[in-house]
Amino acid sequence: MCGIVGYIGPKEKKEILLEGLQELEYRGYDSAGIAVIEGDKLHNFKAVGKLENLREKTKNYASEGFGVSIGHTRWATHGKPTELNAHPHLGAYSYVVHNGIIENYQELKKELQEDGISFLSQTDTETIVHLFEKYHNAGATPFEAFQKTIERLEGAYATLLISEAAPETIFFAKNGSPMLIGFGAEDVYFASSDTPIIGKANEVYYLEDGEYGYVENSTVHLFDANGEKTFVKQPLIADKAMAQKDGYRFFMEKEIYEQSRVMGETMMGRVLEEGIVLDELEEGFFDGINAIKICACGTSYHSALTSAYLFERLAKVRCDVEIASEFRYKEPLLTKDTLFITISQSGETADTLEALKMAKRAGLKSLSICNVDNSSIVRESDTAILTRAGIEKGVASTKAFATQTMVLWMLALYVGQQKGTIDQPTLKQEIDAMLHTPKALVVTDALHAKLHRLSKRYLHGHGFFFIGRDIFYPLALEGALKLKEISYLHAEGYPAGEMKHGPIALADSELFTIALMPKTMHYDKIKSNVEELSARDATICAISPLPFDLADDFVQTTYSSHPMVEFFEMMVVTQLLALEISVRLGNDVDMPRNLAKSVTVE
Ligand code: AGP
Repeated sequence: MCGIVGYIGPKEKKEILLEGLQELEYRGYDSAGIAVIEGDKLHNFKAVGKLENLREKTKNYASEGFGVSIGHTRWATHGKPTELNAHPHLGAYSYVVHNGIIENYQELKKELQEDGISFLSQTDTETIVHLFEKYHNAGATPFEAFQKTIERLEGAYATLLISEAAPETIFFAKNGSPMLIGFGAEDVYFASSDTPIIGKANEVYYLEDGEYGYVENSTVHLFDANGEKTFVKQPLIADKAMAQKDGYRFFMEKEIYEQSRVMGETMMGRVLEEGIVLDELEEGFFDGINAIKICACGTSYHSALTSAYLFERLAKVRCDVEIASEFRYKEPLLTKDTLFITISQSGETADTLEALKMAKRAGLKSLSICNVDNSSIVRESDTAILTRAGIEKGVASTKAFATQTMVLWMLALYVGQQKGTIDQPTLKQEIDAMLHTPKALVVTDALHAKLHRLSKRYLHGHGFFFIGRDIFYPLALEGALKLKEISYLHAEGYPAGEMKHGPIALADSELFTIALMPKTMHYDKIKSNVEELSARDATICAISPLPFDLADDFVQTTYSSHPMVEFFEMMVVTQLLALEISVRLGNDVDMPRNLAKSVTVE
């Protein structure tokens, strides 16, 4: 996720900006830049890669006297990580930084290009600065021009703009992406989160969606749709570690709570009322493709397994899924009408990368679904679709899994659109369900408290079965992996229909069964599977929108309109269950023993 810093005041600005961006590194980035305006002097520095590259470029620069300044670390969503795509973006006499996604940027870009504006970058952000200058050049005051610009933007943004047209002013706007204002003794700061301003500012105001304004002479003028408004500052917390986790106990916990928001970004500009749009795939990408093979590891393998049901059911395209470390050595039979998809959060998993190289050597077209642009797997693939989950710090993957699954669901619909194998009513039904997904991912206090209470009963026993049918079988595998990874208790995921083929021999009161019982997918069958286990005294924790009185523990879910919405809601339940059991066991939730975030070796 991108990071933003800003400063207006008399202090030296380069250091303030670079230190602030350093504090935002935890958000993940692949390029960075700063811009400073002091009187009639503009300075702008950008660098790809880590901040030390930007520090190297700015080593002979220091600002003097009063001025305005902005800085940015970029997590690529539109356009590769290059200097041209790095922020701040420059117009003729203004600079802008932005975090989020401008959903209508193509329309704005087209309008500006028709006005004769040429774009240097591939980003959505650049439209903001050109739109501002278009209105200012047409006679609007700088603030009016900024106001008109913001009114045109659709989507998520936290943005700062500075301009020679108003060299003692910073314009700001917030909608959907975080940004705060920090207040020092004689100066004002902007940042995406608290950490960059801890030790600099002593009061803070957290901007709300739809708020915008400008600061000059250290006075903040705040507006919303109803005009100028007052606001109340609050004391700034001084704990940096706590601030990076936004007040959550662990990064994993924060990332579970983030799923609802990041899912909106994953879908933005891609899930439209009329259908799925994937800019990353050129016209005819699926011509000649009659099958899909997906390779991945761990959690990414589970999102792949889930998608196999969707590709075959929705797009009527054959899809098979392989664990990369197995695929590499099995001498697979590969045909050129097969699209080879790799899924990876990090984009650096050795087995997945090697599997991809094997497929490419065999002449297959390749697509990667990844969370890190410019990673090895992305670079090796013919094309990539980014999950836009933002950096995932917890070793146990959560929001990456959720966004991978969403991208794959989109892709299944997209293939169905391209091949004409999905009818309009089905497409509309699927898209309606997609648009409901962010709501199903919201973690309520009541749900979290329930799982906290319930977790105390699952700290021992001789193991866990997670069981489900259809897409809830890969979800069962994923729930078992989450629990294993961070609680170190034994757990396995199983197709519910397999219980009587052996595993039910383990059933007794010390065997905990987490049963995924969706209303919209084979409910009666899963119910009878669970009844068989309960009849043999297994301890059952049922997760379902329908009450189930044989359960020893019961977590009632809310959504029962569509299997995928039930899938995402139950996914959150299994993630929180694993988290709360791990916390009770006193484990390191974010850095579990023996595990690494990215397995870059065989
Ligand atoms: C997920 O919780 C695990 N940390 C692990 O299984 C992970 O999914 C696997 O190593 C694959 O990583 P990747 O998605 O970065 O390729």
